[in-house]
Amino acid sequence: MKKGIIFSGMRPTGRLHLGHLSVLESWVKLQKDYHCYYGIVDWHALTTGFDDTSELRDNVREMALDWLSVGLDPEESSIFIQSHVKEHGELYLLLGMTTPLSWLERVPTYKEQLHQFGQAGKDISTYGFLGYPVLMAADILVYRATTVPVGEDQLPHLELTREIARRFNYMYNTDVMTEPQAVLSKVKLLPGIDNRKMSKSYGNDISLNASTKEIQEKVAQMVTDPARIRKTDLGHPDVCTVHTYHTFYNEQEVSDICRDCTAGKIGCVACKKQLALKLDQFIAPIREKRAELAARPDLVDQILENGASKAREKASQTMQMIRDAMKI
Ligand code: TRP
Repeated sequence: MKKGIIFSGMRPTGRLHLGHLSVLESWVKLQKDYHCYYGIVDWHALTTGFDDTSELRDNVREMALDWLSVGLDPEESSIFIQSHVKEHGELYLLLGMTTPLSWLERVPTYKEQLHQFGQAGKDISTYGFLGYPVLMAADILVYRATTVPVGEDQLPHLELTREIARRFNYMYNTDVMTEPQAVLSKVKLLPGIDNRKMSKSYGNDISLNASTKEIQEKVAQMVTDPARIRKTDLGHPDVCTVHTYHTFYNEQEVSDICRDCTAGKIGCVACKKQLALKLDQFIAPIREKRAELAARPDLVDQILENGASKAREKASQTMQMIRDAMKI
């Protein structure tokens, strides 16, 4: 018996990399115990990317391939594209009627983001951007999700979702809105190859389906202990990015490598070779699965359409209850 309902989503704004993996791994694990709805939230991508949608469809497709290749299982979960389930849009509209403007204006990230985008010369002071958290609430509430795995940055949005749900139930004397609980995905933070936050925009990322050659190149560029010039210099693994990666991807050997590094017995080149090998072994099955799926676009379309139809089934039940409560 599954013990609850999960919704979570990601905006298809670019290719996923190794830094995204721990969130996806937590989604994969939750599949066994929950009815999971995982949405590629393309409407959310429009809230900031409405002016250039040239890559949107590609990004959606790539995201689907990434998700499926790391083990999200269409037999187990509903995997779909948000815009294919129109109920998200209907609920968004209705919640737009009941949500006070002031609640949205005081979301901590709202003004901050307006400002940040403004500095970069882009005006996102649109109705849609202000409504971002309402759309997110609709995503969750339309499945009566009990549980939402999110990163810490999304907690204010979750809290707002709960407030929106409570207000709705009170106003229409119903209990159709389920107040969701956040579960913080225990994100093990993997740094980029330069030890800053991993981000495509910094060029310090390793993509989820990097080739053997790309992996070797990226690992070769990794920042090591700056005080270590010769192999015989004693190393400091705690300041070394390669060491951090060994702790993630080479658990068996990391302590031996550490010992040899601090004793000046293994050089950075050899240490990096070992890492590249392990990383390649780790990524190889993901890469292969992805290539198989990429070669069968019809199959992927079908998976997404099945996912949408399972999602629609649940969402349309909720919407009927909501229309009844609102006397529509
Ligand atoms: N706002 C989320 C993010 O940027 C994406 C998202 C949209 C989401 N709708 C959601 C996450 C519903 C969880 C539940 O990461």
